[in-house]
Amino acid sequence: MAEIIAVGEAMQRALALLEGGDVVAIPTETVYGLAGDATNGVAVARIFEAKGRPRFNPLIAHVADLAMADRIALFDPLSSRLAAAFWPGPLTLVLPQRAENGIHPLVTAGLGTIALRMPRGFGGELIARLGRPLAAPSANSSGRISATTAQAVAADLGGRIRLVVDGGATPVGVESTIVKVEDGKLRLLRPGGIAAGEIEAVAGAKMLRGATGIEAPGMLASHYAPGASMRLNAERVGVDEALLAFGPSRAEGWRQAVALKNLSEVGDLREAAANLFSYMQALDRSGAASIAVEPVPFDGLGEAINDRLARAAAPRDKIA
Ligand code: TXA
Ligand code: MG
Repeated sequence: MAEIIAVGEAMQRALALLEGGDVVAIPTETVYGLAGDATNGVAVARIFEAKGRPRFNPLIAHVADLAMADRIALFDPLSSRLAAAFWPGPLTLVLPQRAENGIHPLVTAGLGTIALRMPRGFGGELIARLGRPLAAPSANSSGRISATTAQAVAADLGGRIRLVVDGGATPVGVESTIVKVEDGKLRLLRPGGIAAGEIEAVAGAKMLRGATGIEAPGMLASHYAPGASMRLNAERVGVDEALLAFGPSRAEGWRQAVALKNLSEVGDLREAAANLFSYMQALDRSGAASIAVEPVPFDGLGEAINDRLARAAAPRDKIA
């Protein structure tokens, strides 16, 4: 079983494992990541192996600073502006790769582009000390809910990895927002921890929506799936259902819910994002066959929350 070590004591042990080509689960501001040296093919292969992830899904390379990012990818002016505004933080930029940047092709599934992000906190410091970028998908088995606590990581992947660095519950709670500049226009590939509107305010223009080309961002229809089935925009709670609530007023029949978690009593979308994955897991553990989900508004971080809920509710035959 994986060891769980607090961030304050984990740096040397994490570095030693990464230098040896092994993987380590680390906290980031969004969700926990399963990190490996992005320049080491064996390390990257171990990430896929531990997650049981389909190989065609490319990974995000995490960098410590802009100099490291610049050695890996070519920045257009708009992408540079977004990096300056939001890094370190929950924004991932998809950019053309530089030739011979050292990134192992397994990271990008052989694409000419690469997804880059600069995480806050322990991850950033770890990458700076290692001196190399870290490939890090969310630290969960493929198709399951992303982990927002070290305990959730250990419960899912603990038998397959050696170390989980415990930084407590991740503050943002949903994955990074992924954007890409195409012919000078910005496209939203995955809604996430930074609301689209905040990015549009810095860009000075609306983003294009809907992925083109590679259907990248966790685009398997069923993703983030709990064991129970999910029923969205529920107006009432059915027999044997658990309830994932949002805001101050409850769906009809809520008193009969097998289990109840409220993403945010006061209707705060930031708080709801931070609670989303751990509450889905908690309701799943209640043993209910179905989870009814109250409507969540689409503004701000509500877009990312609704995206994850829709994937969790999608038919399960789509799980890879
Ligand atoms: O917050 C996050 O982004 C977390 C933490 C650990 O950093 N990471 C994360 O990684 O969510 P992952 O692997 O679960 O999701 C990365 C997404 C995938 O859906 C992938 O398809 C997309 O990024 N992606 C990676 N490279 C891409 C590329 N070159 N073009 C388009 N999408 C890409
Ligand atoms: Mg993921």
